[in-house]
Amino acid sequence: MACILPADRTKFSSCPSRDRCAVWASVRGLHEAGPRLGPDARTGRGRAPPKRTPSAELPEHLLIPSLLLTLQSSRSHSRSRSRSGPSLLVSYCLSLSPVPARAMSYNKSPSITAETINPRVKIFNYAPCGEILKHAERLEQEMEENPGSLPFQEIIYCNLGNPQVLGQPPLTFFREVLSLCDNPTLLNKDEACALFSPCSIRRARRIINSIPSKDTGGYTDSRGIKSLRQVVADGITARDGFPSKADDIFLTDGASAAINLLMQILIRSHEDGILSPLPEYPLYSASIILHGGTMVPYNLTEDNGWGLEIFEVKRCLEEARSAGLTVRAMVVINPGNPTGQVLSITNQEEILEFCRKEGLVMLADEVYQENIYAENKKFHSFKKVARSLGYDEKDISIVSFHSVSMSYGESGRRGGYMEVTGFADDVKDQICKVASLTICPNIAGQILISLAMDPPKLGDESFELFDDEKEKIRLSFRKHAKTLEKAFSSMEGVSCNNLEGALYLFPRLHLPSAAIRAAESKGVSPDTFYAHCLLDATGIAVVPGSGFHQVSQAPHE
Ligand SMILES: Cc1ncc(COP(=O)(O)O)c(C=O)c1O
Repeated sequence: MACILPADRTKFSSCPSRDRCAVWASVRGLHEAGPRLGPDARTGRGRAPPKRTPSAELPEHLLIPSLLLTLQSSRSHSRSRSRSGPSLLVSYCLSLSPVPARAMSYNKSPSITAETINPRVKIFNYAPCGEILKHAERLEQEMEENPGSLPFQEIIYCNLGNPQVLGQPPLTFFREVLSLCDNPTLLNKDEACALFSPCSIRRARRIINSIPSKDTGGYTDSRGIKSLRQVVADGITARDGFPSKADDIFLTDGASAAINLLMQILIRSHEDGILSPLPEYPLYSASIILHGGTMVPYNLTEDNGWGLEIFEVKRCLEEARSAGLTVRAMVVINPGNPTGQVLSITNQEEILEFCRKEGLVMLADEVYQENIYAENKKFHSFKKVARSLGYDEKDISIVSFHSVSMSYGESGRRGGYMEVTGFADDVKDQICKVASLTICPNIAGQILISLAMDPPKLGDESFELFDDEKEKIRLSFRKHAKTLEKAFSSMEGVSCNNLEGALYLFPRLHLPSAAIRAAESKGVSPDTFYAHCLLDATGIAVVPGSGFHQVSQAPHE
């Protein structure tokens, strides 16, 4: 049930759409499962969840994705007891009420079990941190307890884009500014000039002076420190050539937090759909399911370099609408994860035109904007393309996500932003209200994303080193993209598209029938079987293609 796999057309025949993906089917199954989530009494809509046969679990098209390219280098407030408001009074009374011993009942069964937790939590599947990761951790323990018992000395984690774990060094300027901001007393010491570049010292001083508490330990505005939001907005303006406003910027704990926040704002019920690409970065289906909505998947076309074809998106939108869904937004990941394609401007224009006409919020995941390797491709933000088309805030709502995780390798710092345009002020106030539930994004992340959007410039003391370090990282990614592309293309039974951007390759496997039967006998999908064999034999942890909910486009061999 928790597993969301591509639907075989015949097997989900109860679905109104032939091409319906199981993401949608599973969510409907969930919503239709019990009395509380049952069919809508008003519309009477709802059917029994589709039956799944073992073969429905097998993707026809086998993919092992996500070989990260960085295989490079070496490898409680004290509570007032005084005059309290009603809620405190209640707790005070409760704590004074003696309970006779014999009246105490003791329920032996646990109050919460895996069966009784929120069913939405059970249904989603986040493969990058799923079964393969657990298996890799078991092997790591085995290596510790019995050294030499496995045919490799270390596990190479390619399940997530996590550059520094695979040897990518941090950028010196980033770390100098962070150190100084966290230890502002250093700024007044003579030794600082010997240890840090004048550029880092100036920047840290400016940042510290702009924080109301003059320190990095206090809560900040829920949207992030105003001066840093302004820096991010200025960086966007410089990048796009179109104005960006600090009031449209929300600093966030990475892009993931922003994406989850937006889903909370957009999704009202399971009748709200979000168009999202397949293969997908599984945060999207997980977040949509968790917030009670319905993912409306559209397929990217492998034979067209994982291109986004607008007629396919249109088809999916129309099917979803005829099934009674209100489709509210369209997710586009550019450059793509896990598929590594970079959209052309013409394609971006088509998508924007489509979203504008259909009244969809455009959710632009642009976390890989700095990771482009194809000579003939360049990153253009969706907002810039929209403004170039003459579409302003009245014409289209666009949310753009970016972070320091992929472009700068600082994934553990959790720094990111979303730029929210084309939303009314009262909607932005509500976004702010939801953001305030976590009080504020972490400060190191806020500082880092501001540095990413305003890096040292030509003439600054840190410029040369910064530029050199960035270029080395870029070249190393490119080199490894090419090496892996070549390796996959020369492997028997494997085919792979060229990588244009992002950090992943998504090769297609043509497995022999014996391997498929072996997978069947273990009750797992062939790609999961392959990923486990690969891990057991080499220590390389990858994510099975089915974890990205790839829809079958060709029969397997
Ligand atoms: C497409 C995409 N969006 C968002 C994220 C989340 O990134 P962050 O670390 O900024 O939360 C990732 C991480 O892999 C990603 O690949």
